[in-house]
Amino acid sequence: METSISTRRPEAVKNEIDIKVTPPGPKAKKIIEADEKYLMKSTKSLPVVGSRAKGCFVEDVDGNTYLDFASGISVLNLGHVHPAVTEAVQKQLNRLWHFAGTDYYYEEQVTAARMLTEITPGSFGKKVFFTNSGTESNEAAIKVAKSHTGRQQFVGFIGGFHGRSQGSLSFTASRPVHHKGYFPGMPGVVHVPYPNPFRNPFGIDGYEHPDELVNRVIDYIEKWTFGTYVPPENVGAFLVEPVQGEGGYVVPPKNFFIELRKIINSHGQLLLMDEVQTGFGRTGKFFASEHFGVEPDVISLAKAIASGIPMGAIVAKDTLDFPESGLHSNTYGGNVLASVACSATIKAMREEKAVENSAKQGKYLETRLKELMDKYDSIGDVRGLGLMQAIDFVKDRGTREPATKLRDSVEYKSFQNGLLLLSTGQSAIRIIPPLNVKSDQIDMGIEALERGIKASL
Ligand SMILES: Cc1ncc(COP(=O)(O)O)c(C=O)c1O
Repeated sequence: METSISTRRPEAVKNEIDIKVTPPGPKAKKIIEADEKYLMKSTKSLPVVGSRAKGCFVEDVDGNTYLDFASGISVLNLGHVHPAVTEAVQKQLNRLWHFAGTDYYYEEQVTAARMLTEITPGSFGKKVFFTNSGTESNEAAIKVAKSHTGRQQFVGFIGGFHGRSQGSLSFTASRPVHHKGYFPGMPGVVHVPYPNPFRNPFGIDGYEHPDELVNRVIDYIEKWTFGTYVPPENVGAFLVEPVQGEGGYVVPPKNFFIELRKIINSHGQLLLMDEVQTGFGRTGKFFASEHFGVEPDVISLAKAIASGIPMGAIVAKDTLDFPESGLHSNTYGGNVLASVACSATIKAMREEKAVENSAKQGKYLETRLKELMDKYDSIGDVRGLGLMQAIDFVKDRGTREPATKLRDSVEYKSFQNGLLLLSTGQSAIRIIPPLNVKSDQIDMGIEALERGIKASL
């Protein structure tokens, strides 16, 4: 069939923002309507309907091109449709897709596991258990802690997000709606304050007084939690994010995890670090734990691990292996296609120095965001590590009262200007480009974001 020149799509996805029809356009509206009819409610935040993508750019069904600074919620750390990962999956598609990796054997799974043990922090021996998502990784981490320590109680942090299945949900504490009507979850989880420098229950400015903030949290755990109602010898582990993701991109003071580790070691507990959102170079190091000088006993991974093919994993000290077969398993964990995508992702990240670029471009992004903060009083904070950055909107810089409506409007108006962003916490927007982003693309994003801010004020 002949296609007229005017309706033919360009060969490739454009390398620039191009909004032809105010989104959502007519084709997008139809698909959104059908989505509402056939799909159960989840957490949709913008009416953008993707059609194809490359690198930092996404084209929607109406032919609009967006700059994607949401990266599929920190999944596409190498950008959309990375050629090396695409090639690895395409090759594998003609050989073997699935072979029950928990029951049978294949080399691709072993290779991916070995590579994960190489890149994760800690010079000790490690072992991997593959899952399909972040929540499942945390479920596996919880089981490892229970089976190794024989203890049934745990500590999580206010503002933390660890997933939505019953065990991981019991640790999640970033929004009440996540728990609405689901009580009780897994028993035995208590929550303590996270050292959030910008907003914390102690009223301490943690940027000005980081040590005081850390001492308060450590004191709270030792004197109040362990001192009044939770016997520390009953506690198997702490589950914590090195930088809180869904809680608002909260970076704790530098020495927090070293102090926390002292408590954990003194009680024979384990440190379970949830790096589902922070891992794979997002923060300018392969894993965010490395910024804080700690080596977790178990690291939970998912999101960017296989560039968008569903996969998760835990990497644990080899001494924490399940004591017998059958204590944990699943059907799809370590699926062949996901395994080759994982290995190709790690290889490409190393070859392209994606982590180094995250650190370098992260600094540039932070500088550009701070320039915006200098211009607009409603931006109360710019925070993050590497290319895991966020801006927080406030009603008043003195009180730091969250400006949630303004934040939501900036997210929407930026989208209409061709920039895809995702909100986080009460009043922040995350800016998380692929790790191979270039500085001119960051400039393009800042320009669209500033237009979004101006249109919202
Ligand atoms: C830190 C963290 N842990 C766990 C999860 C849950 O991952 P999933 O949605 O793949 O289950 C998320 C998801 O956002 C996350 O950010």
